[in-house]
Amino acid sequence: MRQTLVAGNWKMNGSQEANHQLLEGLKAGVGEGMKSKVAVCPPAIYIAQTAELLSGSSIAWGGQNLSPEASGAFTGEISADMLLDLNCEYVIVGHSERRALYGESDQLVAEKYRTAEQAGLTPILCVGELLGERESGDTEAVVARQLDAVIDLVGMQAISAGVIAYEPVWAIGTGKTASPEQAQAVHAFIRARLAEKDAAVAESMQILYGGSVKPGNAAELFSMPDIDGGLIGGASLDAESFLGICRAG
Ligand code: 13P
Repeated sequence: MRQTLVAGNWKMNGSQEANHQLLEGLKAGVGEGMKSKVAVCPPAIYIAQTAELLSGSSIAWGGQNLSPEASGAFTGEISADMLLDLNCEYVIVGHSERRALYGESDQLVAEKYRTAEQAGLTPILCVGELLGERESGDTEAVVARQLDAVIDLVGMQAISAGVIAYEPVWAIGTGKTASPEQAQAVHAFIRARLAEKDAAVAESMQILYGGSVKPGNAAELFSMPDIDGGLIGGASLDAESFLGICRAG
């Protein structure tokens, strides 16, 4: 049985005061009868605050990005060791916003995944197609290309140490969620592709769905056989709505 994971991706949102309120709200609401594991990924500058507030709780935390390099003259970058230094468990790699807005290639995403995994972080690898790619029937080809770039570089052993998040770009921040059937079809495709290489890894892999997940649609999405939780953007910024999603897991 795969455990459900619900992870909040705060993106470039928050302030010390807002984070304090949100994290206290989450701490108060997480626990009792919640089957999902819960994690938050704040902006890097707030990871220390998050670590201080969440330490000793059952909520994990992580980064939204990392450098593929270990250390040195890389102004503005954050290393895997720095994330570990603040007790991060997770780090998101290859989010579509980083691919689209910051030109991250499949190769760079694969290198980031490798750096994170080798350091002992749990990478959350994001994959997903653009609207035009879906409309032209290329969803599977795009997802396969993004996935294969990482598998080819790191191998299945390292893949099994991470989490995959399927996030159709057209569903991110648009209020347009993929239907449970649409999401399930791609999740099943991803699992089948992993199974071609290693059936046991495919079976144990957590595959999250991301894209306009809300308390009202989470239960239906998470009930699909190959959907093992969610990567939540907007709805993770409000304690009650994020907790509502966590309870659906
Ligand atoms: P939304 O939940 O705001 O659509 O964002 C999803 C996402 O990109 C999570 O990484």
